[in-house]
Amino acid sequence: MAVFQSIRNFFVPPTNFESEEIITPTPTTTYEIRPLTDRQLKEVLKLNLRCFKAGENYTKYTFSYLLDEPNSLSYRIVTPNGQMVAFIFVMTSREDGTGHVTTIGIAPEHRRRGLAHKILRHTEEALRKRHIGLVMLEVRVSNVAAQNLYKNLDYAIVQRLHSYYNNGEDGFLMVKSL
Ligand SMILES: CC(C)(COP(=O)(O)OP(=O)(O)OC[C@H]1O[C@@H](n2cnc3c(N)ncnc32)[C@H](O)[C@@H]1OP(=O)(O)O)[C@@H](O)C(=O)NCCC(=O)NCCS
Repeated sequence: MAVFQSIRNFFVPPTNFESEEIITPTPTTTYEIRPLTDRQLKEVLKLNLRCFKAGENYTKYTFSYLLDEPNSLSYRIVTPNGQMVAFIFVMTSREDGTGHVTTIGIAPEHRRRGLAHKILRHTEEALRKRHIGLVMLEVRVSNVAAQNLYKNLDYAIVQRLHSYYNNGEDGFLMVKSL
């Protein structure tokens, strides 16, 4: 887990997210999953700021690190005009055969359309092909939407992580065997 701890240590709350966004769901469209590379650094950073509150999101340095790290897998979902509306990053460890979902986010105006479900399933399939047998992740105890998503995909809570987050909030450790 040392590598995951080092990722968390990159975590510095940004100060540039001040106003609440008004969300209007976009018209139904088609979506495609593609690899997420360092060419999308700026775009993923922008989307991440729309997905997470100040203090809960990763910095540019964290994303640069993850995009550069050979043991990291990352995917995005795009609309027909190429706009990124979802992202996911997973760190893998070949030594112990595990994957660790470090972050996942869906653009607010594209939520409740199965995109998180779709990108997670896609990622799990990619992990299976790499002989990864166990996926784990942490989620805030207050983040019921994400917990429901993971439970629907057969992730189970195995541990409560006391004061896991920077603001003192507890987290749940959830795992799934692939
Ligand atoms: C959590 C999040 C990733 C879900 O993305 P999404 O694309 O809207 O989720 P999906 O449409 O694939 O939903 C799959 C299931 O998740 C659960 N779910 C998703 N949003 C939910 C909500 N607002 N309330 C309750 N359950 C929710 C439901 O069980 C849903 O299945 P259903 O639609 O059949 O009821 C998205 O809300 C998000 O980006 N949130 C901010 C970032 C975040 O919290 N990331 C997770 C950090 S651990």
